[in-house]
Amino acid sequence: MRNVLKVFSPEKKGKEKISVVTCYDYSFAKILNETEVDSILVGDSLGMVFQGNTSTLPVTLEEMIYHTKAVRRGAPEKFIVADLPFLSYQTSIEDGIRSAGKMMKETDCDAVKIEGGSDFICELVAILKQIGIPVMGHLGLTPQSVHVFGGHKIQGKGEESSTKLLKEAEALSSSGAFSMVLEMIPAELGKKVSESIVAPTIGIGAGPDCDGQVLVLNDLLGTDASFQPKFLKKFSNLHSIVKDAVGNYHREVKSGEFPGKDHSF
Ligand code: KIV
Repeated sequence: MRNVLKVFSPEKKGKEKISVVTCYDYSFAKILNETEVDSILVGDSLGMVFQGNTSTLPVTLEEMIYHTKAVRRGAPEKFIVADLPFLSYQTSIEDGIRSAGKMMKETDCDAVKIEGGSDFICELVAILKQIGIPVMGHLGLTPQSVHVFGGHKIQGKGEESSTKLLKEAEALSSSGAFSMVLEMIPAELGKKVSESIVAPTIGIGAGPDCDGQVLVLNDLLGTDASFQPKFLKKFSNLHSIVKDAVGNYHREVKSGEFPGKDHSF
């Protein structure tokens, strides 16, 4: 279902939770297309999860476009949100329009996501909406600002910080963001923001009261045995599954058991 008004409908608030998962490639997108997950986010987390960088900052617009195209080919029926990467929209409103427009034109994604809640970001959200580009916001731990935060740390703790975040969420929602990610904030603040704004909130480490949840696909599948932040529930152990499968393949090649008659012409 590719309809922003349905997938992220404010009317779902309090009634039906929204499930979002990240994806970076065709093969997994093809599997996700067969699931009921509500939406796919092509996140710039691919800079860390796929490319192995220590932050999302090195990711380019061209790389995001490349991955989003692959995901669209695998998941033609899913509502796809694509991240605009660091410095593709923060430099000016015009750059933001060009980057968002390029992403929409070249990838057939359904919406873009940008980070932050400043007046500039809210203005950009409103202008993009006006020209026909739906925008998802992102508050809390916004990974493109990791160096300001001094690491991937919980945000919105304390009176000043939580009040600021709530104000930014209200401003983003009023500017026309159809939804927003709330990342790594106290559950109580996730609840407060979700109850205060029209746009559905999508939490990651933001507690159970957000209007939906998002996880990085690789994380929920358990591909990295050593990655276990508090907010992450692993729904599989792909690390062991892949290791066992490749181990068995290796052994059978060595022993000559594979390929046997069944796999030969
Ligand atoms: O880049 C990403 O994958 C994200 C999610 C973690 C929300 O922004």
